[in-house]
Amino acid sequence: MTDSDVIRDGRIFGDDHLPSPIVGRNSHMNEVTNALAPIEDGLRAENCFLFGPSGVGKTTVARAAVRELRQEVLEVPHAYVNCWRDYTRNAVLEQLARDLVGAALPRSSSTSRLIDLITNNLRGPGVVILDEVDQLRGTEVLYDLHDIHGLSWIGIANREVDLLADLDDRITSRISVAYRVRFDTYGEDTITKILTRRARGGLNPGAVNEDILRRIARLSEGDARQAITALRVGAQMASREGLSTIPARLVDDAVADAEQEVRQKTISKLNTHQRALYEVLAEEDGLIQKELYARYQETHDDPVTLRYLRENHLPKLDHYNLVDVEQRGGTKRYSLVGVDSQDDTLSKS
Ligand SMILES: Nc1ncnc2c1ncn2[C@@H]1O[C@H](COP(=O)(O)OP(=O)(O)OP(=O)(O)O)[C@@H](O)[C@H]1O
Ligand SMILES: [Mg+2]
Repeated sequence: MTDSDVIRDGRIFGDDHLPSPIVGRNSHMNEVTNALAPIEDGLRAENCFLFGPSGVGKTTVARAAVRELRQEVLEVPHAYVNCWRDYTRNAVLEQLARDLVGAALPRSSSTSRLIDLITNNLRGPGVVILDEVDQLRGTEVLYDLHDIHGLSWIGIANREVDLLADLDDRITSRISVAYRVRFDTYGEDTITKILTRRARGGLNPGAVNEDILRRIARLSEGDARQAITALRVGAQMASREGLSTIPARLVDDAVADAEQEVRQKTISKLNTHQRALYEVLAEEDGLIQKELYARYQETHDDPVTLRYLRENHLPKLDHYNLVDVEQRGGTKRYSLVGVDSQDDTLSKS
């Protein structure tokens, strides 16, 4: 993004920008830093699990807690894995080998070689962020991590899932999750504060007033990603009009466009199963689960079970507000969200 009369530094609006300080999440930060505290004494940290809706600061808090830890323990081994992208056991272990011990790997190392590599080279206790951990295909890797001396993890998911459900009892009795931290949607005041800080860092002085920020906050319904994107989109719209401030009349459009942009980004992250579901629904709305599953099975060459679809992929689409689930007479019907407004944007341009 090029900077303009309105935007001073576009990077401040990027999703991977890690803000400082983190606004309005002190108790959440405390829980995670407490979980990690043993590392400061050279001990294994407690595992913790963060869950809650989209855009409420889960990834941000996990990363900020690791950032704090690194200020205390400079060389602490740490890793970040996005399990939505790296969903197999080996993909996770490869990422860990790279991040934790700086290993340069051929793409096809065996599971046991990867585990050995990490075990033999890990220097002191470390921590791994397993983001979108509900998207892992199989949870044996949690057992792998447990067997690596000194390693602990922060798991992040959208719902409170039982991560250890697939593991057998002998294993789960040894792995524990000491901290479960629930994140609720932000209130309007907190989102306004978050936006105020972003505006201060990313926009030119006077580019936006508090009323505008509050209005964006109200329309973003507790989702900070949505709000920050809307602020940036509003700033870009104002720039394009040659203005140096964001006028109130642009706010509604900025919020709507931001919603569309966030949705498009999410769609680009879907795995093949989720994408197949999405495409089935793009062709026909209002399907019940069985119909949806039958169509999906026709289009995907390696389909998962109906149960897996119901427990994993459909909730993910729902969580990211890509599908609407409507209860009609005891059955759930699935439709795509926002398809109409997408048509609108297409016809407008
Ligand atoms: N408390 C906060 N202070 C400042 N910025 C925040 C805060 N919470 C969230 N943000 C910003 O909002 C955006 C979304 O936050 P984050 O990625 O942590 O959400 P999430 O809960 O992990 O959502 P998802 O479930 O979609 O992954 C990021 O740009 C992040 O910097
Ligand atoms: Mg996240």
